[in-house]
Amino acid sequence: MIRAGGMWWRKLCVPARVVGVNRPVPKVGNPVSVFSQRFLSAGAIRFHGHLTKPKKGEELHVTFILKDGTQKTYEVAAGDSLLDIAQAHNLDMEGACGGSCACSTCHVIVDPDYYDALEEPDDDENDMLDLAYGLTETSRLGCQIKMSKAIDGIRVALPAMTRNVSNKDFD
Ligand code: FES
Repeated sequence: MIRAGGMWWRKLCVPARVVGVNRPVPKVGNPVSVFSQRFLSAGAIRFHGHLTKPKKGEELHVTFILKDGTQKTYEVAAGDSLLDIAQAHNLDMEGACGGSCACSTCHVIVDPDYYDALEEPDDDENDMLDLAYGLTETSRLGCQIKMSKAIDGIRVALPAMTRNVSNKDFD
C-alpha cells in the first residue's frame, strides 16, 4: 500500500489555481490519483521552439538577419517553422499567439530571391500581415513558413519592431 505520509507528492504537483483546475485539494489521499488529476486533466501544454533533428544529408539552411545586422545561419530539418527555429535559438521573435496565425509578432522580411519560392500566404496570414508594423513587399509570418527543399538557404530579416494587436484593442 502506498502511503501519503509527509505529503511528499504535493511538491510534484502544480497548484490547482496555476493550471486553472477548480478542484479542491485533498488533504490526504492516494498520491497516484491526485497526481493524475492534476497533470492529466490540465490539457496539453504546447512547447514552441522544438525542432526536429535533420537527417544526415538532408540538412536545410536558414539565415536570420537580426535587428543589429548580425546574421545567424542554422542547419534545420524540413517541416520546421521559422518561428520554431527562431525560438529554439533564442532569437528575438515573440510569436505571441503560439503560431496560430492570430498575431503579427512573428513578422519576417524575406529575401526577395526566396520570396517567390514560398507558398502563397492564405487569407488569415494576409489579414495578420495587414497589422504588421513596417510591412514590406516580401513580408511574411514566420510561423507560416515551413522549411522545405524549395527554400533551402532562405534568408529572412527580423523587423525593427513588431506590433501585437488583439481583439481587445478594438473594444
Ligand atoms: S506567432 Fe502569431 S501569427 Fe505567427
